Amino acid sequence: MNLGGAGVVITGGGGGIGRAMALRFAAEGARIFVADLDGDAAARVAEEVGGSSLAVDVAADVDRLITTARAELGAIDMFCANAGIAPHGTEATPEDVWAQAWDVNVMSHVRAAKLLLPEWLERGRGHFLATVSAAGLLTILGSAPYAVTKHGALAFAEWLSATYRHRGITVQAVCPQGVRTNMLASTGPSGQLVMGASAIEPEEVADTVMEALADGRFLVLPHPEVAGYYARRATETDRWLGGMNKLQRKIEQQG
Ligand SMILES: NC(=O)c1ccc[n+]([C@@H]2O[C@H](COP(=O)([O-])OP(=O)(O)OC[C@H]3O[C@@H](n4cnc5c(N)ncnc54)[C@H](O)[C@@H]3O)[C@@H](O)[C@H]2O)c1
Repeated sequence: MNLGGAGVVITGGGGGIGRAMALRFAAEGARIFVADLDGDAAARVAEEVGGSSLAVDVAADVDRLITTARAELGAIDMFCANAGIAPHGTEATPEDVWAQAWDVNVMSHVRAAKLLLPEWLERGRGHFLATVSAAGLLTILGSAPYAVTKHGALAFAEWLSATYRHRGITVQAVCPQGVRTNMLASTGPSGQLVMGASAIEPEEVADTVMEALADGRFLVLPHPEVAGYYARRATETDRWLGGMNKLQRKIEQQG
């Protein structure tokens, strides 16, 4: 995809990976619309990239987001469904926490696609870039809602790609492991144990995304080793689960 002059929406663009993509895409000539729950953070990033911003909750108000972004940008050429939350939790986590994770991490993508696809199909082009996670390809210890909803986000992205790629729609799923943002910091000692050593900077994610925009590949892997883990999960499932459980026991011993 050529970003020169493109109208790009980035949800969760007020910090972390979203901000890094905003800066990188703007440097390539994109016109950026930053959407974030934290309106001040979104406005700061918009100022950095000469774009515009909106304070919005993607769990509740994707309609207003798309309407406002269209009015600002003219047309939305690329939608980056990047906002995400990672609540700690298990099977016993209250259902409202599960519902919030489902809304932010999955349904905001579905609702955005519902509003974007009619125009994109008519134009014969459109680009949907979802920030999923390696947790969507594998799993993540300590957060059942995150593991499950990121699998959901990946499944939806796959479905979109399989259904619409012959009609000019490009879908890409960005699946990093640890990235040094507020989200990683919030995972505490277990997150550090599992992801700390291989964590990368948000700018490195943005660099990998830029490379991937050139060829439109579906899976965007800022940690290339994830491809091997993903293959092992599919072909040696029990061995892979045993390895994950070993890691779980290590976390429990660490207290
Ligand atoms: N940091 C990591 O280790 C990591 C790894 C893999 C995937 N991811 C994914 O990357 C994406 C970006 O996360 P990040 O690491 O940059 O974290 P971050 O916490 O720095 O940024 C997330 C942004 O999303 C915004 N946000 C949260 N809920 C929102 C809502 N309901 N509506 C609008 N905005 C909302 C936050 O205000 C924040 O600015 C997420 O989807 C996350 O799951 C992160």
